[in-house]
Amino acid sequence: MFFHLWAISALCAVTLSAPFAPGSASRPEEMKVLSDYFHMLATKVQEGRNMAMAPICDISKATLPVASPTPLAGPAEGMTLKHVAIGRGIQNYTCSTTNATAAPKPIGAVATLYNASCVAATYPDLLNILPKLALEFSITPENQELGPSNLVVSGHHYFTNNTSPFFDLNTSGLELGVAPCQKNSSVPAPAGAVVGQNNQGLGAVAWLKLTTRSGATGGLQEVYRVNTAGGSPPKICEGMPATFEIQYSAEYWFFGSS
Ligand SMILES: *[C@@H]1O[C@H](CO)[C@@H](O)[C@H](O)[C@H]1NC(C)=O
Ligand SMILES: *[C@@H]1O[C@H](CO)[C@@H](O)[C@H](O)[C@H]1NC(C)=O
Ligand SMILES: *[C@@H]1O[C@H](CO)[C@@H](O)[C@H](O)[C@H]1NC(C)=O
Ligand SMILES: *[C@@H]1O[C@H](CO)[C@@H](O)[C@H](O)[C@H]1NC(C)=O
Ligand SMILES: *[C@@H]1O[C@H](CO)[C@@H](O)[C@H](O)[C@H]1NC(C)=O
Ligand SMILES: *[C@@H]1O[C@H](CO)[C@@H](O)[C@H](O)[C@H]1NC(C)=O
Repeated sequence: MFFHLWAISALCAVTLSAPFAPGSASRPEEMKVLSDYFHMLATKVQEGRNMAMAPICDISKATLPVASPTPLAGPAEGMTLKHVAIGRGIQNYTCSTTNATAAPKPIGAVATLYNASCVAATYPDLLNILPKLALEFSITPENQELGPSNLVVSGHHYFTNNTSPFFDLNTSGLELGVAPCQKNSSVPAPAGAVVGQNNQGLGAVAWLKLTTRSGATGGLQEVYRVNTAGGSPPKICEGMPATFEIQYSAEYWFFGSS
């Protein structure tokens, strides 16, 4: 019974939420993403029927994806995986309004984090298409529901200044801690990464390793941003306003000492 509950909760987390209308998909890219997603879900359900025992949500079984061809430096010795989240939000940039060839400057990001720990542990292939799926749907302060998924909010991501990403994983559900961070290393998103919503087509933001600054709680020490979708600005400022946002989604992996 215990095993079955886990399988159901892992799959339910990514199945249809009630108010979602599949008919709202209009663009070909959106249709393709949705159809891949539901095809994969259907396959999981079919596989589940043939399994003697349903998969267990054991987060220690989840493996951090590393970008290829350039791999991102992995977690330090002794790190334990604490949480995996799908982030959905915006990357903010500023642009020179007087120099058309200047490059946009990143000034931070704001994203809602959704609990994907069990999906990471049981269905890594499904996890890895979630940023692509999430990017196709908009969230608003009033409606934080992530497209057709039932993923539950597990935290918030924002910046405290231009170089200080911050993660708050203390929710009413569970207090996993807070993580003020700094960039440790970065590799370009692999070729073939999802370029952006609404055919913005500007590219996916880099994969990152962040380390926590003083003030982190819950033993959080390292945060990875991988399987990014969208978020990159245009190469130059021509035609851009002084500040602007680019939609993005990504997986965030949180590690710490146990
Ligand atoms: C405009 O930006 C480009 C690229 O950063 C730079 O090479 C150039 O010197 C800048 N021009 C002016 C007038 O600041
Ligand atoms: C990014 O843009 C959002 C929406 O305009 C804003 O609420 C947020 O404060 C901005 N963040 C930064 C770091 O500028
Ligand atoms: C994520 O979901 C799993 C399964 O429902 C649960 O055990 C875990 O506590 C959740 N984590 C957070 C941070 O909400
Ligand atoms: C940004 O915030 C971090 C952490 O609080 C701090 O160490 C750093 O000096 C700040 N940087 C700037 C430019 O204010
Ligand atoms: C968040 O949760 C951690 C871990 O349970 C706890 O130590 C901390 O006091 C909470 N609040 C903040 C702001 O870190
Ligand atoms: C990255 O993290 C490793 C291990 O935590 C540390 O030794 C190294 O100095 C860090 N590098 C940068 C550029 O912060």
